[in-house]
Formats: sequence, structure tokens, C-alpha cells
Amino acid sequence: MTESYLIRGVRVVGAAPTDLLLRDGVVAEAGHGLTAPGATVVDADGLVALPGLVDLHTHLREPGREDAETVESGSRAAALGGYTAVCAMANTSPVADTAGVVEQVWRLGREAGLVDVQPIGAVTVGLAGEHLAELGAMASSAARVRIFSDDGHCVADPRLMRRALEYVKAFDGIIAQHAEEPRLTVGAQMHEGEVATRLGLTGWPAVAEEAIIARDVLLTEHVGSRLHVCHVSTAGSVEVLRHAKARGVRVTAEVTPHHLLLTDELVAGRAVLGTPELAGTWRPTTSYDPVFKVNPPLRTASDVAALRQALVDGIIDVVATDHAPHALEDKECEWAYARPGMLGLETALSVLLAVVGERWDLIAERMSRTPARIAGLTEHGRDPAPGVPANLTLVDPAARRTVDPGELASRSRNTPYAGMTLPGRVVATFLRGEPTVLDGKAVK
Ligand code: DOR
Ligand code: ZN
Repeated sequence: MTESYLIRGVRVVGAAPTDLLLRDGVVAEAGHGLTAPGATVVDADGLVALPGLVDLHTHLREPGREDAETVESGSRAAALGGYTAVCAMANTSPVADTAGVVEQVWRLGREAGLVDVQPIGAVTVGLAGEHLAELGAMASSAARVRIFSDDGHCVADPRLMRRALEYVKAFDGIIAQHAEEPRLTVGAQMHEGEVATRLGLTGWPAVAEEAIIARDVLLTEHVGSRLHVCHVSTAGSVEVLRHAKARGVRVTAEVTPHHLLLTDELVAGRAVLGTPELAGTWRPTTSYDPVFKVNPPLRTASDVAALRQALVDGIIDVVATDHAPHALEDKECEWAYARPGMLGLETALSVLLAVVGERWDLIAERMSRTPARIAGLTEHGRDPAPGVPANLTLVDPAARRTVDPGELASRSRNTPYAGMTLPGRVVATFLRGEPTVLDGKAVK
């Protein structure tokens, strides 16, 4: 028999403080003054219980770049961030475009045992955008892939995109698009706008994203399939999505924590943030710091404001991290040569708290319930109640922490929040009733 845990006096979203008894992988009992001889007691006075967070967009880098992250190190980072499930992107080496590779990633996730790792399959062979990958074989593999994405690259050919949407319709799968019209971003280094002009860097225009989203929602409507839009970054994209949703198109969308907080002014070394209070205590150390290079790029303060509103309104369905670990040599080099991407798993919840405040129901909806529903992860995204799988995280909303890259569990160090003091701390995470994090520390 596995150990049981009695969580005392925790605030469950939408309810008064209560006790939760976790036993045999589920929430066995919920109520006041529970007793359970032999159970380990967790004092949760002042803590909030959320359903375990679910990330639709994580780069774990294994196989191929185990120097930057492994399934195990990324899983540990996820657990410390309050996650119980992550969807692993397909741009590994080799690419996850066959049943063999997605099964390997899935198996590594099981062996690490820290979060449920759900592989995403590539849409096209080698992410090359020319031939459809073995979508059916990945779907019927042990990894049971339901989401397919060439993330890092856009499925730019409209005919191929249409065929991919048609193919996955047979099993209610989803195509997750990295929306970037490649012909409009040749040589792009940052958001196309005032700051890029001032710095003399080639711009990545908002329309390169918006044009692909507009095309893809129309294709999705035509085919009657399902589309998910990765890392939405512009106010214009929100308007396209608003229109598509009003027409009843089956489209969902995600926004990253960094696009909800950071702006393109950081490339010029100016701390213009969507939450100005944070900027009072924090300064980027230099201009052209590649830690702020990401794809899609950081946008303007008005884009940030539109994304925040869209997240509250539900035009954007979920927060997804786009956790993108990179080795030192790929980040600590000249801006033009640096790889795009930033860490996200260990800071996402704190960033969201800084962005929306203690709106726990909204946080549970956007970071757990809805992403679990989109990914079809039926054991996740469920509020703790008797009989429900015990996948949950306990958060201390009163805690503050200053982000120290050296303390992260990720193998990489490319966090854009170094030195920033953020609200909230994950105290404990449980996966099927077993702690993966206790007292803010990884259990294994
Ligand atoms: O910034 C990014 N990094 N955007 C992507 O689309 C891919 C990702 C990566 O794999 O590093
Ligand atoms: Zn992407």
C-alpha cells in the first residue's frame, strides 16, 4: 500500500478551507476535521489547492539535446512549477515524427515519474513542411498522440495544412500551429516596430502571425476539424480569433507567460513591463541580451494589454509556457546568432499571479482545466473532490521569491526573470497521490 497524505486546512478554489485525504492515487475524502491514522500530515494553512497544472507546450529536448534538458530534468522543473502533466513538443533530434520516437519520449516520461509526459507528434516529416508524417501510426502508438505540431516551424503550405486537418479529423485530433508566414519573417530578429527601427534590427511583423491564423481558421472551418494556435502574441491575432470563435470555428489558443508580461523594449535594455510595479525593482542588465530573444518575439505594451484582456475574456483559452531550454553557447552569444526561446515551467504560475492577481478560478481554468480538456488528459484538470485522481498543487500566495537562475531544476539557465521578485510559491505537488514536490523541494 502506498503512503497516504492528509492535507489540513487548504483553500480549495471556490470553497472554504478544508482537509483533503489522498489515498491510493485519489482524493479519498474531503471535509473538516478529517482523521487518518498513519497518514502523513501536510499543514496547508494559508495555502491554495489548484488542480495540477497542465502545459500544452513544453520543449524537453530529449532525444538529441540532453545537454539543454532531458525528459527527467524538464519533468522536475515542471513539478516544481506546480505541473502534473506536460505536452512535449516534437522538435527534438531525431524529430518526433514516428511512432518510435513518440513512444520513446512517453516511456522516458513514465520512467521519470514526476509528471505525465504526453508527446506531441510532428505534422510533417522532419518538420520540413513537405510530406505529412505518420500521424495515424503516432495516434495508435502507446503514446496515443492527439496533438500534432511542427512548432518552431509553421506548416506554411496551405494544401499540406488542409490535409493535416482532414487527417486528424478522423480521430478528433488537433493541429497546433506555430503561426509564422515564413516569407514575411526572413532575417527577422525582433518585433517589427519602433524599437527595431531604433536598433536597426530586421523586424518580425505582427501580420506574419495574423495572416496564418486567419488562413488556418478558415481552413479549419472548411474542413470541420480542430485547430490550436500556439503562443499568440499580437492584438491583431486576438481580433482574428474573436471573429473565428463567433463563427463557431473549433479553434483554441494559448498565450505564454512572457508575452503577458514582457515587451520588445527589453531588447533595448528598457524595463517596460505589462505590470509596471515589477519594473520598479528590476532592471535588465544590458541591451541586446539574447535571453529576451524568443519566437514569436516580445511585442509592444498594447499587445500585452490585449493579450491579458483576451485571456480574461476567454478568446485565449490557456496559458502555455513554451518552455524552451537552450545551452549556454546557444544563448550567451551575439543577438543575431542566439537561439530563440526562454525557460517557463518554474516561473509560469508566479508570472500569472503577477499578471491577473489572485483570481484562482481563472488561473485554474487557464492553466489546468482547459489545457487538460484540450489535450484529452481526463485524469488532469479536475478540482480536488472525493474520487478524483489526486493530481494537485498547493500554492503559498503570500510568499515572494527572487528568481535565481542557478537554483532552477532545468538544465538550462535562460530565464528572462533573473533577479525579478515574483509573487507566490509552489509548496507541494502531488501526482496520483504521490508527492513530487514537498516543502518547495523536489522529492526525487
Ligand atoms: O522561441 C521559440 N523557441 N519559439 C519556438 O517556436 C521554438 C522554441 C524552441 O524550440 O526553442
Ligand atoms: Zn513556436
